[in-house]
Amino acid sequence: MDLKGRDFLTLKDFSPEEIEFMLDMAADLKAKKKNRETVDWCTGKNIALIFEKSSTRTRCSFEVAASDLGMGSTYLGPTGSQIGVKESIADTARVLSRMYDGIEYRGYGQDIVEELAKYSDVPVWNGLTNEYHPTQMLADLLTIREHFGKLKGLKLVYMGDARYNMGNSLMIACSKMGLDFTACTTKEYFPNDALVAQCQEYAKASGSVITLTEDVAEGVKDADIIYTDVWVSMGEPDEVWEKRIKELTPYKVTKEVMAAAGEDAIFLHCLPAFHDLKTKTGKEIYERFGITDMEVTDEVFESAQSKVFDEAENRMHTIKAVIAATIGEY
Ligand code: CP
Ligand code: NVA
Repeated sequence: MDLKGRDFLTLKDFSPEEIEFMLDMAADLKAKKKNRETVDWCTGKNIALIFEKSSTRTRCSFEVAASDLGMGSTYLGPTGSQIGVKESIADTARVLSRMYDGIEYRGYGQDIVEELAKYSDVPVWNGLTNEYHPTQMLADLLTIREHFGKLKGLKLVYMGDARYNMGNSLMIACSKMGLDFTACTTKEYFPNDALVAQCQEYAKASGSVITLTEDVAEGVKDADIIYTDVWVSMGEPDEVWEKRIKELTPYKVTKEVMAAAGEDAIFLHCLPAFHDLKTKTGKEIYERFGITDMEVTDEVFESAQSKVFDEAENRMHTIKAVIAATIGEY
């Protein structure tokens, strides 16, 4: 398996075997980290981290992964660089390619990260766009595989806004890797028809099933994984909160939802999550709408079924694998 020089923009671009290869490498890197084995395979190399949106997990994962691999990293935040203000993405790509061995981009449209990749001579990694969040997918798949010992044949149910980066990416990841995928939400929040059709093809090849349903009882029945994400994503206007809360509250992950899925089901969330009032946004939403949680209750979030911190840790191991595999040093 040779992924040297490849961009990592969406899992659509990778075969199930290639995805498995990165998962295996991540599992190996995780074991090595636990054993305090050195993996400075990329000594002398450097990566640039462009973040046009906020991040805790993705940024820290790239920085720790780079450091563990013996690389330097430069963080370019939403302000302070010339990107997008005085310099185009195409010019930025050509400049950074002369100094760095890989470029991470988190921001808005997928077209931007594609443009960056088009003009870059080094691998470009998508650290989240409006449409896709592929590094999150590797962490989720690794977490699921660690917990259940397999991927094929499991059923993942995504509740909430299934037409944005997380819903889209999970549908791709599941259909490629042989997990049944259910989007359980109102019709307006189903993934778009073209992507569903494309994923139906992946599902046919992997032997999995894609279901879109508005019915919670039917959707979550026999689920192995219940997954949700924030109802309003980064970059979306403040005005959409009221409508989202109204329309997506029936798809909140509650203890009843987990009970309907069964006691062996796990709960996953890419994080950050609104499950209490310990955040500025959580408090503001409470002031405006009088609710103390949103996409998941605190009870579920804190329950034994919740594996969200295993999942968060796996961001780092999987991102390390993506860097090593695409730079071609491992
Ligand atoms: N899940 C995730 O991407 O988290 P951050 O926004 O903190 O990077
Ligand atoms: N859908 C969320 C994911 C955060 C990791 C967002 O785009 O804000």
